[in-house]
Amino acid sequence: MVQNVASVVADLEPEDFYLLSGIEQGMRFSRWVNREKIPEYSGLTPEEVAYRLDRCMQRDLVTRKTIQYEGYQLEFEGYDALALRAFSERDTIEAVGAPLGVGKESDVYEVQSYKPLALKFHREGYTNFRKVSRGRDYTADHRHVSWLYTARKAAEREYEALSELFPVVSVPRPVDHNRHAIVMDKLDGVELARAKLDPSQAVGVLDLILREIATAYGAGFVHADMSEYNVSVSEGGVTIFDWPQAVSTEHDNARELLERDVKNLLGYFRRKYPTDTPESIDVGDVTTAVAESSFDTVRAHAK
Ligand SMILES: Nc1ncnc2c1ncn2[C@@H]1O[C@H](COP(=O)(O)OP(=O)(O)OP(=O)(O)O)[C@@H](O)[C@H]1O
Ligand SMILES: [Mg+2]
Repeated sequence: MVQNVASVVADLEPEDFYLLSGIEQGMRFSRWVNREKIPEYSGLTPEEVAYRLDRCMQRDLVTRKTIQYEGYQLEFEGYDALALRAFSERDTIEAVGAPLGVGKESDVYEVQSYKPLALKFHREGYTNFRKVSRGRDYTADHRHVSWLYTARKAAEREYEALSELFPVVSVPRPVDHNRHAIVMDKLDGVELARAKLDPSQAVGVLDLILREIATAYGAGFVHADMSEYNVSVSEGGVTIFDWPQAVSTEHDNARELLERDVKNLLGYFRRKYPTDTPESIDVGDVTTAVAESSFDTVRAHAK
């Protein structure tokens, strides 16, 4: 889908982007941007707006509603187009390649740059937004929170966490950020969930992950969504990715979230590598060691 957006972007003219960013601005205030306001937001004449709307509708970058008033909103492809254009204007990326992964709330693509990188588009809020906007299109917009905002905030939080943690913690190197999108180094391993670890290595990998979590805690962050799907394992070690929901260690629930992260990981290793993971490890003990940066090996916490 987004591969298409990349070719669509190549085909767009500067005025098409004025239109898209005009609608983007309007969506800060209402879910559907009134047609009459688009010239003002975009800096285009009404005739030009009509022409550009047609082009962008044909390319599925914007959608229209006509009940009550004529309004437009960006589709996520339209928002993707704006981010892609920003990245390409500042030479962060040259081309978009194959999908690397589709998460619950993101699409990740390989991109060409001076070397292959990864581009993650956040979709937080978009699915909900579709549901909400179908049912409540015409209610007052004063409590309106756009999915653009939710997705952008998630990308900002993730980029900030990566920037703070890299390179002290093994996370993908952050490269650039725009709107709901971030560019980072491509992971070179496989997801822990798909890795077939030699039983003799399993506990060692668990130790490596817990040490990264301890270092991240020391640097002020709890991942808060730790699972076998957010860790990549390679010959060179482990990398922890997917950080948008990270919380500060100052947060009231930080300790609880840390404990949940530790519990998820231990649970996974116990299920998948039962004979190698000591059964009698106390989650609370490990969490304490992680929080105090005194964690070394899980075996030391087996009773
Ligand atoms: N830097 C990267 N390099 C290569 N592949 C990546 C990279 N980041 C993410 N991916 C791939 O994209 C998938 C989704 O990414 P990520 O876990 O960051 O997003 P998510 O939507 O938050 O996931 P979740 O479903 O766990 O909430 C990952 O499982 C992984 O396969
Ligand atoms: Mg994930």
